[in-house]
Amino acid sequence: MGHPTTAAVLLCQLGLTAAIHWLGLTESGSGVAWNESHHCRLLAGLVPDQFQMCRRNLEVMHSIVRAARRTKSVCQKTFTDMRWNCSSIQRAPSFGPDLLKGTRESAFVYALAAAAVTHSIAQACTSGELPLCSCGSVPSEVPGPDFRWGGCGDNLRYGLQLGTAFADSPLKSSKLGTQALKAMNLHNNAVGRQVLSDSLDTKCKCHGVSGSCSVKTCWKGLPNLDEIASDLKSKYLAAIKVTHRLIGPRKQLIPKEMDIRPVKETDLVYLNNSPDYCTPNLHLGSLGTQDRQCNKTSVGSDSCNLMCCGRGYNAYTEEVVERCHCKYHWCCYVVCKKCRRKVERYVCK
Ligand SMILES: *[C@@H]1O[C@H](CO)[C@@H](O)[C@H](O)[C@H]1NC(C)=O
Ligand SMILES: *[C@@H]1O[C@H](CO)[C@@H](O)[C@H](O)[C@H]1NC(C)=O
Ligand SMILES: *[C@@H]1O[C@H](CO)[C@@H](O)[C@H](O)[C@H]1NC(C)=O
Repeated sequence: MGHPTTAAVLLCQLGLTAAIHWLGLTESGSGVAWNESHHCRLLAGLVPDQFQMCRRNLEVMHSIVRAARRTKSVCQKTFTDMRWNCSSIQRAPSFGPDLLKGTRESAFVYALAAAAVTHSIAQACTSGELPLCSCGSVPSEVPGPDFRWGGCGDNLRYGLQLGTAFADSPLKSSKLGTQALKAMNLHNNAVGRQVLSDSLDTKCKCHGVSGSCSVKTCWKGLPNLDEIASDLKSKYLAAIKVTHRLIGPRKQLIPKEMDIRPVKETDLVYLNNSPDYCTPNLHLGSLGTQDRQCNKTSVGSDSCNLMCCGRGYNAYTEEVVERCHCKYHWCCYVVCKKCRRKVERYVCK
């Protein structure tokens, strides 16, 4: 190799893309039946361990493709009111600098993606989609006086086992990417799964004469991914900047500003500052907020003031068509009229 630095940079970039490369399965994996092992070759971005897992566990790939699709849509939905709106995730399996450089934004996406895989597998067990798992085990807690354990709980344990193996393997097996970045991504993956595990909740169904609820059956179930994403968004806003430093015998992630509290297992962490995402800068992965819609009456991040970074906004009216004057007809349909209504919209200059 004549140009070791060029090669190193290239390898480095490959390593950076690889860890959430599997989000690209939404494009390449959607129409695949996943019933023959050569299907695993369809995604070049699977690292060897993921490839092995695919071959051994073909059925689980449906859950992983579903997790990739949900990660993309839920991320965008969760960030519609922010300057950075998760748009670059749409480019998976290749990403922009906003998701490659150890930023706060990549911390969120890694955590969400890791939670999504585990979530998806845990629920696939419940729905009977996977041959090697079924309902979660009966909780060890003693049931309350008014209910008994029953139904089919989400199999969080199996989801964690396979989900961790899948999401973390690019960070464990490959020698690409910096140690610091791998440590950051591994930490954030674990945070995503921790938030998911903590969200496991008791859900119940009533039985008894005409819904009297004299008998209740309960199980442990996971909330939908939007709820997990919303928790992770709070953690994104409070994320801690860290460095990878030698503490005793090994390197650890420690807060950059020493006066803040130590990193906890539930804190998202990042290595590099993000741009403010106000103006376009391809080098930094910022699209800018020109033409983004803002909310004139909001005081939050979607307010015209914050979203437009003080540049001001343009107003226009849009006509929306809605269903209205709906009448219920016995039995069993509803007839509505179409009403037109004018709404004011505001977009950033
Ligand atoms: C895999 O699924 C496809 C489409 O459903 C089917 O045509 C094919 O025969 C299946 N292959 C095996 C090995 O079952
Ligand atoms: C996100 O913001 C960009 C840049 O302003 C815009 O082009 C894109 O349509 C937005 N995406 C979504 C999903 O809102
Ligand atoms: C704008 O923000 C206000 C206050 O938060 C909210 O009630 C309203 O629904 C928002 N409007 C739109 C169009 O999102």
